[in-house]
Amino acid sequence: RVLSVVLAGGSGSRLWPLSRHTFPTPFMKLGGAPLLQQAIERGQACGTRDLMVVTNKDHVFLARSVLRQMTAAPDATLLLEPQGRNTAPAIALAALQCIQQLGGDTVMLVLPADHLIPDVDAFAASARPAFDLAAQGSLVVFGISPTTPDTHVDYVEVAQVSREAQPATGFVQTPDLATAQACLATGRHYWNSGIFCFTADAIVAAFEQHAPAVLAAARQALGSSRTAGDAIEFDAATFGLQPDVGLDEAVIAKANNVQLVPASFGWSDVGSWPAVANAHASDASGNTLPADAISIDTTGTHVHIESHGPKLVATVGIHDLVIVDTPDALLVAHKDSAQKVQDVVQDLRARS
Ligand code: GDD
Repeated sequence: RVLSVVLAGGSGSRLWPLSRHTFPTPFMKLGGAPLLQQAIERGQACGTRDLMVVTNKDHVFLARSVLRQMTAAPDATLLLEPQGRNTAPAIALAALQCIQQLGGDTVMLVLPADHLIPDVDAFAASARPAFDLAAQGSLVVFGISPTTPDTHVDYVEVAQVSREAQPATGFVQTPDLATAQACLATGRHYWNSGIFCFTADAIVAAFEQHAPAVLAAARQALGSSRTAGDAIEFDAATFGLQPDVGLDEAVIAKANNVQLVPASFGWSDVGSWPAVANAHASDASGNTLPADAISIDTTGTHVHIESHGPKLVATVGIHDLVIVDTPDALLVAHKDSAQKVQDVVQDLRARS
């Protein structure tokens, strides 16, 4: 039995002004459908029948509306977080709930809701060996062959890059550029996709061993939760006692039963504007512009317009910019600094 656990609780602040607290990344439509829907369908393509969505309580209506609009949505349990505490608590809660609801030998397929994976069949093909390894007790991470020395992803080391699953031998968390370049040069590293699979029992045992405080706090949070129909709601004060830590740092990088399954599918984490641009087909000058845009001496530029009526876009003499125009906010950023867009959100929060 396989359960899809979709993580849809990140702030998505690097995709401001399109992603807002009231409408964050998982609900954005990219490539035709909301990203949350695409993550759910990815799980369904692997034959999963059960679904858990872990998201912020403020987004329950958005999540339900995505599920309602799907023609074949599975029955879902919604874990509604009063606040984001990062991926380790989210996954610990899902695992404990899974043990109660479905049993500890259920394989959990953890799917971040801010990924674009156009070929779901290729994803399902990679998932099959991962499910087998997970059923045998391994913690499985899906690895992506790195194409650039990206400093915003984690790296997983193996003995030698191959097409087969193999034990992970080391972890490098968000390296600086020199370290990322060194990782690429060794030919022994994959990007950590952030997609995992393991049985609920195996990940709880790993929490017990490597991050007992996270597990204890998750048990407490679940213990004081309230079930209302398909939703599990948490007491905010108890929930807030959970440490703010990612799964990789808390557990995966410390465990010795991690297997890496190489991805045979195209993948992008659409966590920043350059990544969104990369996920679109570009013109001959590397631009990703609205279809009717006029561009003169423009290269490497991404323009996204969300206006109430038609708006003509013209760009002249600009290079490597991201321009995002929404009814109440306009972003103009250099692609090289696009990660700092989250600082705008912090600034706005400080002002409000
Ligand atoms: N429910 C819930 N609650 N989900 C969360 C929370 C939370 O508090 N925090 C993050 N998430 C979800 C996000 O919505 C996203 O789908 C996923 O977990 C990853 O979170 P990020 O915070 O965006 O992580 P990251 O992109 O910096 O790093 C992750 O992805 C990289 C690949 O893009 C890690 O898994 C890295 O190891 C990985 O390399």
